[in-house]
Amino acid sequence: MNSEKDGEKIYPLGYEPEITTDAPDDNVRNNLLNFILKSGPTEVVDTDLFAVMAKRRSTRKFKDKPVETTKIDKIIAAADTAPTAGNFQGFEIFYIKSPEKKKLLVGACNKQPYVDAPVVLVFCKNPSRVKLDFPESVLKKFAIQDATLAAGYSQLAAQALGLSSIWIGMFDEQKVMDIIGTDLVPSSVLCIGYPEQTKFPKPRRNLKDLVHVSW
Ligand SMILES: Cc1cc2nc3c(=O)[nH]c(=O)nc-3n(C[C@H](O)[C@H](O)[C@H](O)COP(=O)(O)O)c2cc1C
Repeated sequence: MNSEKDGEKIYPLGYEPEITTDAPDDNVRNNLLNFILKSGPTEVVDTDLFAVMAKRRSTRKFKDKPVETTKIDKIIAAADTAPTAGNFQGFEIFYIKSPEKKKLLVGACNKQPYVDAPVVLVFCKNPSRVKLDFPESVLKKFAIQDATLAAGYSQLAAQALGLSSIWIGMFDEQKVMDIIGTDLVPSSVLCIGYPEQTKFPKPRRNLKDLVHVSW
């Protein structure tokens, strides 16, 4: 997210974290990450992880209300806290700001109209980052797990911030790659915003059917 060249901080064009730190530290990236995680917004809705999990419900109808940059910072920072294979962070986040690209993504995502959401994050696999001495197939497996877990952390962060989201797994990989301009394969598209209405969480199967104990 942030790198330093000759003491000057460099951010991706179009995404500059609202919360910044000038604290003298040789580990600027982690310092910034910690600042973002610990700082505002003050009206974080829920800091109880289990309450966040219990209440989370996918949303496909978003209010036409922009999401505050401080919240986007936190959602991205949350992804950056997820565990990754060997800590090599085998994933990338594409933050789609262009309204035209969002509309194109609707088409690439099986014409799902809610992909045109206030915040659209495409999580891509980047196995080339995973510098472990394993076959390519294993590195790819690690990268999909890295990207998926990171998106899951972002999804929970969005919920904690009073937002809602929809996870998009149904898309044409090549079309998404062409739209966002990468040769990295996407693993999920996370669409986030303020929900039109708050719904109850969906039911799940009984725990006894879910858990298979092996003695
Ligand atoms: C791997 C995966 C792929 C999904 N793909 C889509 C999708 O393409 N379109 C969609 O509307 N929802 C998609 N979803 C959202 C699920 O439909 C939703 O999470 C599920 O119904 C459970 O509801 P909940 O998230 O409210 O608990 C996907 C979720 C996952 C985890």
